[in-house]
Amino acid sequence: MEAALRLTLPTAEHREEISAYRQEFLDSGDSMDGTGALRRLADPVEWLAATEQCRSGENVPSGWVQATQFLCVRETDGRVVGMIQVRHRFSPFLKEYGGHIGYSVRPSERRKGYAAWMLNAVKPFCRSIGLSAILVTCLAGNEASRRTILKNGGVYDTTVHEPVENEDIERYWISLEE
Ligand SMILES: CC(C)(COP(=O)(O)OP(=O)(O)OC[C@H]1O[C@@H](n2cnc3c(N)ncnc32)[C@H](O)[C@@H]1OP(=O)(O)O)[C@@H](O)C(=O)NCCC(=O)NCCS
Repeated sequence: MEAALRLTLPTAEHREEISAYRQEFLDSGDSMDGTGALRRLADPVEWLAATEQCRSGENVPSGWVQATQFLCVRETDGRVVGMIQVRHRFSPFLKEYGGHIGYSVRPSERRKGYAAWMLNAVKPFCRSIGLSAILVTCLAGNEASRRTILKNGGVYDTTVHEPVENEDIERYWISLEE
């Protein structure tokens, strides 16, 4: 991978990039994984507030858990090329289907190794909140995500059926032991 990237917490300075990220996913029709409520919240200021609320763990919306949202920013041009979210603990849904981590890479920036980089780069943060292993899941058939997980040491656990969306989900564990 050529370009230098960094994970950063989202702030107001990223407003335009967040809107552009969202629009690109709306245009492509892709799933905005690892972005919290970005699909629902068109106003980046509202999204920043919701994100901060989830990070603090206070007044987290019902059914959600404390979660930290990161942006993946390319150093050369400041572009937000990806997003990754760490859920600090499990809800019943996350334990079975959603896992600890969600992520996505902007459609125009795919196949450059960015997803694999993000998943690796978020590991120290996961350790810092006390996780010794992370559950990462993907839809059966999402080859890009499956390979991203495998590149990061994912060990296959099970495939489960999620009845609401009627989807098969593969579950992988990544050890954080050093
Ligand atoms: C999944 C996703 C994050 C991958 O992002 P990316 O930056 O293109 O992935 P990378 O470039 O880091 O590639 C990681 C691995 O996947 C492979 N890969 C990437 N896109 C692929 C594709 N379309 N088909 C098959 N393999 C693919 C890469 O070759 C690489 O594997 P390799 O090193 O063994 O060759 C991106 O496709 C995405 O945002 N999809 C929509 C949201 C989503 O599915 N998120 C995951 C939810 S579990």
